[in-house]
Order: sequence, then C-alpha cells, then structure tokens
Amino acid sequence: MNGTHALNMLLYSCTHYQENDIIYIEKGTEVMRLRNISGSREVIAGSKYVVHEPQEYKGKWKEIFGNDRPIRIEIGMGKGRFIMDLARMNPGINYVGIEKYSSVLLRGIQKMETDPLPNLYFIRMEAEEIADVFGKEEVERIYLNFSDPWPKDRHAKRRLPSREFLHRYDEILSKEGVIEFKTDNHGLFQFALGELDPAGWHLEQMTEDLHHNEEMMEGNIMTEYEERFSAMGNPIYKYVISR
Ligand SMILES: C[S@@+](CC[C@H](N)C(=O)[O-])C[C@H]1O[C@@H](n2cnc3c(N)ncnc32)[C@H](O)[C@@H]1O
Repeated sequence: MNGTHALNMLLYSCTHYQENDIIYIEKGTEVMRLRNISGSREVIAGSKYVVHEPQEYKGKWKEIFGNDRPIRIEIGMGKGRFIMDLARMNPGINYVGIEKYSSVLLRGIQKMETDPLPNLYFIRMEAEEIADVFGKEEVERIYLNFSDPWPKDRHAKRRLPSREFLHRYDEILSKEGVIEFKTDNHGLFQFALGELDPAGWHLEQMTEDLHHNEEMMEGNIMTEYEERFSAMGNPIYKYVISR
C-alpha cells in the first residue's frame, strides 16, 4: 500500500477534520496530524475552474454556465474522477463538484488544467451550507459517492445521507430530482436506508451488489474509491431515491 492510498483509507474509515493547513484524524483515542499539501489553498483561490463566493450565485447558476441546462452535483467529489467522466460524456448537462478539503480538490483542478470541461465547475466548501449556494429546485440530481461513514453515533448528523442532509437536499432539488448514493460501507448504507422514511423520501432503485446487478450497472461510472474497494472484493451498495 503506498502512502497516498493508506492516507485515503484512513480518511475514509476515521473521523477527520481540518484546521488551517492541518488535517486531524481521530481513531479511537488517538489523534494524528497530517499537513495539508502546501500551496493548495492559493491554487484554488486563483483557479478559474472554481466558483469563489458561490453563495452569490444562489438561484443564478445559469449565469456561470451561460445556459439553462440541467445542473447535477456531486457532494464529496474527492479528486473528481467520477464527475469529470460524467461531464465529458454528457456535454448537454452542467455539473458542479463539491469538496471540503483543499489538498483533495487540488487534484481535480490539476486534471481540469490538462483536460478542461466547459460544463463543470468546482466549489471548495462544507456541504452543510449547500442550501445557501443553490436556489429552490436549481439542482436536478445529487450524487453521493463513498461518503465518510462518521462511525460514532454522536456524529450521525454529519453523514451526508442523514435526514439532516436530506432536508437540505430537499430545498435545492427539483420536484422530479433524485439522489444517487453508492458506498461499500454496510453500516452506512443501512443507516441511509433508515433515514428515508423519516425524511419523506422513498426508494426508486436499490442493490446490495451493484457490480452484479446488470440493470443498475448500465452506464455506471466508477469513482476512485469504488475502483479501490471493489478490487478488494467488497460489494458496492447503491440506492436511487426521490420524494
Ligand atoms: C471517502 S472520499 C470519496 C471520494 C469520491 N467521492 C470517491 O468515491 O472516490 C469522501 C470525500 O468527501 C469529502 N467530504 C466529506 N464530507 C464532506 C462535506 N461535509 N462537505 C464536503 N466534502 C465532504 C471528503 O473530504 C472526501 O474527499
């Protein structure tokens, strides 16, 4: 396992948070400190692929894209491979990738510099603020891929498929809009299923083994984590939900 791989696995399985340029990883009683990639904040601040002050575009994202095509977003995009592949394959749809860590988003920006996509922008932000950034019904689809599990009960509200987040998504998603969620984490998937009814959502599609489900695999775009965990033999869980 190389260093980056080990760090990514640790970030996925543990509680982590960032202050200034340091990422703190909490596992049990231990707290590790990892330095952020130096200069990543400066690169992001100067990047034309990033929407700065995204709150100013709430309800006005068509101005950013220069058209009124549907907008689909990925929350917690990581290094951005999934959303970049989607944007490349679907030029008639607009995409926004959201990521909270500068050092991770930096990788997406670097890829956009060699392979620019006119229908894709990034935002560096904490997803809790999503309803301040998009207007009512401004988003047509939300992708959540391999969201952090936040295993401690007291952190349940931070899980991206939690009812608290489902209420936020409700504010920005169009009436016919859907959320697609993939994970290899059984506990997180069970939790996510249990949140649907209390939050007023229902299942459109669901599988506990995506890679062996012909119908749901059609058109599947692999994420970085999906490739890694499915190669380890983990089944991939997926749901598609609507209200
Ligand atoms: C486990 S990684 C998965 C990355 C990618 N979606 C994939 O499947 O390869 C989860 C990513 O979501 C980001 N993330 C987690 N919670 C977030 C939040 N509340 N707001 C924005 N990004 C978040 C993390 O920083 C991390 O890059």
